[in-house]
Parts: sequence; C-alpha cells; structure tokens
Amino acid sequence: MAKRISIAIDGYSSTGKSTMAKALARKLGYRYIDTGAMYRGITYSAQERGIISSSIAIDALVEMLSDLTLDFRYDESVERSDLFVNDINVEPFIRKNKVASWVSKVAEISEVRRYLVEAQRKMADVGGVVMDGRDIASVVLPQAELKIFMTASPEIRAQRRFQELQEKDSKEAVSLEDVAENLRERDYLDTHREDSPLVQTEDARLLDNSNINMDEQLEIALNWAKEAGA
Ligand code: DC
Repeated sequence: MAKRISIAIDGYSSTGKSTMAKALARKLGYRYIDTGAMYRGITYSAQERGIISSSIAIDALVEMLSDLTLDFRYDESVERSDLFVNDINVEPFIRKNKVASWVSKVAEISEVRRYLVEAQRKMADVGGVVMDGRDIASVVLPQAELKIFMTASPEIRAQRRFQELQEKDSKEAVSLEDVAENLRERDYLDTHREDSPLVQTEDARLLDNSNINMDEQLEIALNWAKEAGA
C-alpha cells in the first residue's frame, strides 16, 4: 500500500532543486516546502527592521526570531505556495538581490538554523512532503524515506542561471563569467559552513541532471519515490 512519505532534496545552487521538488510534489499530491525561502524570509524581515544594513546585528536578529511566524499558503489560482511572515506575503521581495546578497551570512547563524529546523520539522510532521534545501537529509529530516542529492556540471549550472537572469529582464548587466564566479562562491560557502554544511549523505541518491531534461529527471525521481513506498 502506498503511504505518504517524506522526500528530502538537497544540492548545490542552480541545480534545479526547486523545479524538481515542485513537480514531484504535484505528481504525488504532496506538500512542497522551500526551506531556502524561509532563510530569505528571515533575511528580508531583518532588513525591514534595520537589523541588517552594512553588517548584521546578530543579537537583535536572534531576538527578532521570537516575534516571527512563518507559514506557506497555497494559492490555487496560480498553483503556487507563497511564504508569509507575520501574515504578510513576502514572496515578491525575497528573490531580490538585496536579500540574496545577505542570505548566506544569515544562514550561518546557528540560532537561525535551530529556529528554522524546528519549524521545518513541524511542517513535515504530517508526512507527504517534498522539502528542498541544503541540510534536509543530514539535519532536518534524517529519517526521510527518500533522499535525493542534485548536481550538474558547473558550466551547465552557470549557463542555466545566466539564462534565467536574462529572462528576468534584470536591470543588472552580468556576464556568464560573473555568474560562474558567484556560483563558485556560493558553493564554497554552502559546503564550508561550520553549522550544517551541504553534504551528500551516504543514503542519498545522486541525481546529476547535466544531460537530461525535466521530464526525464521527474521520471527517475518518481520511480525512486515508488521504490521508497510512495
Ligand atoms: O535555495 P536558496 O538559494 O533559496 O537558499 C537561500 C540561502 O539559504 C542559501 O544561501 C543557502 C541557504 N540555505 C541553507 O543554508 N539551508 C537550507 N536548508 C536552505 C537554504
């Protein structure tokens, strides 16, 4: 009998984790939880309160956490789950560069990680979730029935991210080399962070999507989910 399992998806930036996680959740009728959005939501809230300007006032940021309520609300009309912080939809703000340029620093703070890990575990309590991030298999849901580690070659990831930025009609002129350099920096920060660095756990299945399309990846992941009991 199929049961509602937990699926953890981790991997480097720009490997298509969220696209895959969303598609997989939709196919299985599961809930998708974007943990990166939660780190971004905290960063945005701290910026709004003046806690981050040219540096982070760490004590004030940690204190702020007890005032925050984070939840995802599904909007059926657009088939999308948006992050709300204290009942405000922050989705329009958290993908901007202003947030992106500070979020890795915020994600290094152990108190922030502890706070979010607890919130994420509560969200996954009910089963039937696909959660993506960097520490899902290793820390948040070590008992997840299926763990997927996503990767792709650095050249392909840079090319995809570059394309995405072009399509966004971004005002900033960035070169492919800038994008590649930014990815190298983020990979370094993600894998060398002292608290909960990105790792491929031994029990995770490796999905290298350098040379396969979205449908092919989804088919692989769905087969793994079935094998894991979904
Ligand atoms: O996946 P993303 O780009 O939205 O993630 C934003 C940042 O948060 C990125 O610096 C990595 C960090 N992050 C993390 O440390 N742990 C997670 N579970 C998810 C994201």
